[in-house]
Amino acid sequence: MFAPVLIGLVPAALATVVVKRQDTQNAASFAKIVDPKKECKWYSEPTLSKIMDKQFPSTEGIASIVDGDEDAKKIWQEIQDSGIIPGHVKVKDGSSNNYSVDSSALHDYNTKSDPDCWWTASKCTTPKTNADKIGSDLERCEEPSTWGLTFDDGPHCAHNEFYNFLQEHKLRASMFFIGSNVVSYPLQAQRALVDGHDLCVHSWSHHSMTTLSNEQVFAELYYTAKAIKVVTGATPQCWRPPFGDTDDRVRAIAAGLGMRNVLWDKDTDDWKMDEGTGQSEIESNYRKIISRANSTSPIVLAHEVSTHTMNMFMTMYPEIEKAFQHIVPVTACVNATKPGPEDITYPNFAQYVSGDIGAKGQPDGENIKVNADAKYQPTPLAQQTQKGSFMNPNVDATSSSANSTSSGSSDSASSGNSTSTDANSSNDKSSETDSTVKSAAMRVSVSLMALFIPLFVAML
Ligand SMILES: *[C@@H]1O[C@H](CO)[C@@H](O)[C@H](O)[C@H]1NC(C)=O
Ligand SMILES: *[C@@H]1O[C@H](CO)[C@@H](O)[C@H](O)[C@H]1NC(C)=O
Ligand SMILES: *[C@@H]1O[C@H](CO)[C@@H](O)[C@H](O)[C@H]1NC(C)=O
Ligand SMILES: *[C@@H]1O[C@H](CO)[C@@H](O)[C@H](O)[C@H]1NC(C)=O
Ligand SMILES: *[C@@H]1O[C@H](CO)[C@@H](O)[C@H](O)[C@H]1NC(C)=O
Ligand SMILES: *[C@@H]1O[C@H](CO)[C@@H](O)[C@H](O)[C@H]1NC(C)=O
Repeated sequence: MFAPVLIGLVPAALATVVVKRQDTQNAASFAKIVDPKKECKWYSEPTLSKIMDKQFPSTEGIASIVDGDEDAKKIWQEIQDSGIIPGHVKVKDGSSNNYSVDSSALHDYNTKSDPDCWWTASKCTTPKTNADKIGSDLERCEEPSTWGLTFDDGPHCAHNEFYNFLQEHKLRASMFFIGSNVVSYPLQAQRALVDGHDLCVHSWSHHSMTTLSNEQVFAELYYTAKAIKVVTGATPQCWRPPFGDTDDRVRAIAAGLGMRNVLWDKDTDDWKMDEGTGQSEIESNYRKIISRANSTSPIVLAHEVSTHTMNMFMTMYPEIEKAFQHIVPVTACVNATKPGPEDITYPNFAQYVSGDIGAKGQPDGENIKVNADAKYQPTPLAQQTQKGSFMNPNVDATSSSANSTSSGSSDSASSGNSTSTDANSSNDKSSETDSTVKSAAMRVSVSLMALFIPLFVAML
């Protein structure tokens, strides 16, 4: 990651040489590489490189609105003008450069009355302000014995073996992507859509969202969603806060950007392997979840953050599959059959568990392209009346008998098709502590640097 930084450090001629060393053409050919070193070799995607500086924040640090980005400013103004952001919810004190919530903030907060529905303090999941426009956070599936399959912090550069595994076992998952990873590994991000996974937002830089200003929260989500749109052509309408750290202020900004908050009910704590926790302890975390397969249907938190965490899922999968009747992505879990404005549809729960798992309408690996002109146009949650959207799920988007309830304004027609033209044209709180941040963002950069520096030195 941090490609622009690397460009900054390396003389242009050398950067060009590096580009030539990565000879993959598109998502399809890239998907065939299974040597992690080759997968993680830095490459430049020319269309994206041209627009990075002007259209995206730095891949290092907290996102803010890019100078001169009138599109972003306009949308941010609209969200503020809509009045959805509650004024009474304070920015929480952060520590470690706002990677985490400061313990004093928790200490000073009235967890009992919990006025902000602050999950980190109370595990509150139903907003106390504007609940009708925002919806409750998603934590479990309703159908019995169902595992909601989700992975955070991708795309990881070396995820092909893991994605191959998902494909071979006819599994689709919800992928919560970090924006700075999406722009650093666009071919990997594209594979996720091509394979039919759900694409959701996990912030730009993996900071604690409740410690950031309104505008920073906006920029963290906006630019991640925009990156997914520009790189893959899909508009994400689901997101997960890093560390689960959300409150009614953060939820409202996300809702203004049309994103439903997805949390989790069970946590594998798999990321701790990268901090030295032994494999057996993580296996036992998995087995605790597995042992309750007959009585619970949790959305489960696991990570795409390292080969350790990806391998762990592959190791545990046979046991999960044996115990749970169903393993589904969030779209199937809640019947979000048409989560975005593009004509990309996902099977509902019944279809998915009967074996019809494929998404429809997404580009294939030969044709998917980065589209510098793709317009990211969010539809606020309150306006998502389209059947099968994250605000109006549980209704089959493809069934003629389905009944569109009006949970918001009457904007569904324009939101339904407004951006479909470029769909194809281009293209447990305790778990995630401070150190996850480093795994999420820095670890990747460190490993990349480790790969890159020898190459750089060799050239000199
Ligand atoms: C955290 O973010 C807030 C809001 O932008 C800012 O005022 C504060 O200085 C930041 N704190 C740290 C430790 O970076
Ligand atoms: C779930 O129920 C089935 C059938 O009753 C039983 O065979 C199985 O052992 C149970 N699984 C767990 C994990 O309790
Ligand atoms: C999803 O749709 C199915 C019908 O396909 C229905 O039986 C089920 O209750 C729905 N699930 C949810 C969470 O509403
Ligand atoms: C649509 O669903 C709503 C709420 O479930 C119900 O009140 C209404 O009668 C339904 N309309 C049709 C045409 O089925
Ligand atoms: C979107 O546009 C396509 C092509 O013009 C049309 O076939 C489709 O019915 C439209 N979808 C919606 C939801 O309006
Ligand atoms: C998208 O591209 C594929 C492959 O080129 C094509 O088959 C499909 O019809 C296109 N879809 C739209 C909506 O243009």
